[in-house]
Amino acid sequence: MSDQHEWWQKGIIYQIYPRSFQDSDGDGVGDLAGIRNRLDYLEWLGVDAIWLSPVFPSPMADFGYDVSDYTGIDPLFGSMEDFDQLLEDAHRRGIRIVLDFVPNHSSDQHPWFIESRSSRDNPKRDWYLWRDPGPDGRPPTNWLSSFGGSAWTWDEKTQQYYHHHFLPAQPDLNWRNPQVVDAMLDAMRFWLDRGVDGFRLDVIWLIIKDEHYRDNPENPDFQEHEPPHHQLLATYTTDRPEVHDIISKMRKLLDRYDERMMVGEIYLPIERLVTYYGAHGTGVHLPFNFQLITLPWDARTIARAIEQYEAALPSHGWPNWVLGNHDQPRLASRVGMAQARVAAVMLLTLRGTPTMYYGDEIGMQNVPIPADRVHDPVEKNLPGIGMGRDPQRTPMQWNAAPQAGFSDHEPWLPIAADAAERNVTVARETPGSLLRLYRRLIELRQEQPALSIGSYSPLPTEGDVLAYVRREADHRFIIVLNLGSEPARVEPPLEICGSIALSTHLDREGEKVQGWIELRADEGVIIDCPE
Ligand code: GLC
Ligand code: MG
Repeated sequence: MSDQHEWWQKGIIYQIYPRSFQDSDGDGVGDLAGIRNRLDYLEWLGVDAIWLSPVFPSPMADFGYDVSDYTGIDPLFGSMEDFDQLLEDAHRRGIRIVLDFVPNHSSDQHPWFIESRSSRDNPKRDWYLWRDPGPDGRPPTNWLSSFGGSAWTWDEKTQQYYHHHFLPAQPDLNWRNPQVVDAMLDAMRFWLDRGVDGFRLDVIWLIIKDEHYRDNPENPDFQEHEPPHHQLLATYTTDRPEVHDIISKMRKLLDRYDERMMVGEIYLPIERLVTYYGAHGTGVHLPFNFQLITLPWDARTIARAIEQYEAALPSHGWPNWVLGNHDQPRLASRVGMAQARVAAVMLLTLRGTPTMYYGDEIGMQNVPIPADRVHDPVEKNLPGIGMGRDPQRTPMQWNAAPQAGFSDHEPWLPIAADAAERNVTVARETPGSLLRLYRRLIELRQEQPALSIGSYSPLPTEGDVLAYVRREADHRFIIVLNLGSEPARVEPPLEICGSIALSTHLDREGEKVQGWIELRADEGVIIDCPE
């Protein structure tokens, strides 16, 4: 079989939040040497690429998403040598590394911003978005920050406002300025030359704003419980047409190298999301598809979403699916421990590149954070409305040792209360554990082209059951997932025949199936159906 597929189409991406994966120097914060010490585990698990949340120098106002030097490594995480060693070791094991690039904003401590705010006629003034006040000294527009309050901060010294979609400590760069474009492309080139395999582009859909600085319209559907910035529609601050031009410049740069990729963080409805593939070879390789996070966990809703997504993809657009990340409540807390297994089967059998979030493979849950240990600025600014992201960023649970084997020092965020039972070491030794399920699923997906690059077709089902076929050449797998907590007997019109290759419960392998199948509550199966 000739296989034209790229690594990022066949591969599985694993997100590491570096502060919380493994601490090597006893400061309670994870680091690059720590990640390097855990490569054995990632190799055993079988993932193809690591996406590292930002490791660049940063004052950590937003824990690395406020970059003060795009071409360095924060000493908290190690040195450039540590990074090079990690990259080399990972590559030696066939694991790629994707960096988190943050183009929308820098830190207010970045030398560019320090210069920019120093005077109105500084050459870097126009690298950021500075505006005169509106009437009565009000901010120039009604734009709201996603992290609370106005998206404009007044600068006393130069008597203008600057724009920040997030914290005041994260001023937005002016992507209409060609010098900014060049400087950022240079930073990307720096990492590409070092050998990184690609970038996850932070909030890429909002890097360019309306050139006329129009006010955002009111959101007629705003509900009380939503975050305050949802009061306005983000019409003039996000998803502007000019963004595609900038992405195409980044793409052109990447295409000068072999086998590099970009995955874009984009929270948009599907019909808008798919525009980020661009025309052939001009967009991001993968615009993150967050539907399994944002939609209710319900078979009919998900079946429709898959169908709609498959139909919306441009012919050159490769799909992808995500179950969790550092901004979203933990999967196991959202859908429950039993359905987390079904979700794993879904993620690793749908057509498209899967992205996993560290710890989801052992069923880590949201960890309650006592008030005096809150770190996330979102929780500090908008307390008590469930927006804080610390609960899903707690240290990886490796073993039953104090601090769960993450560190020999009190970690920056608390360790989950169940870490002595729920950890990698225990899970590796427990038959039927979620971790073993992930490992087996990954292995199966790696062995069977039908599951990675094969075609997808839905099978009609009812109620809480979702079913589909993956096929490549003459090999066919039928996946049947029970998203409900009642047993289900399933008789798809297509004749099911063959044998079970995997069940969520890891106890039915080899069982023959003919015509129909009985699923237990919260059970998913992969049926091997040779033609
Ligand atoms: C992205 C990141 C998030 C960060 C924000 C601002 O959404 O995933 O963690 O706070 O951008 O950079
Ligand atoms: Mg450390």
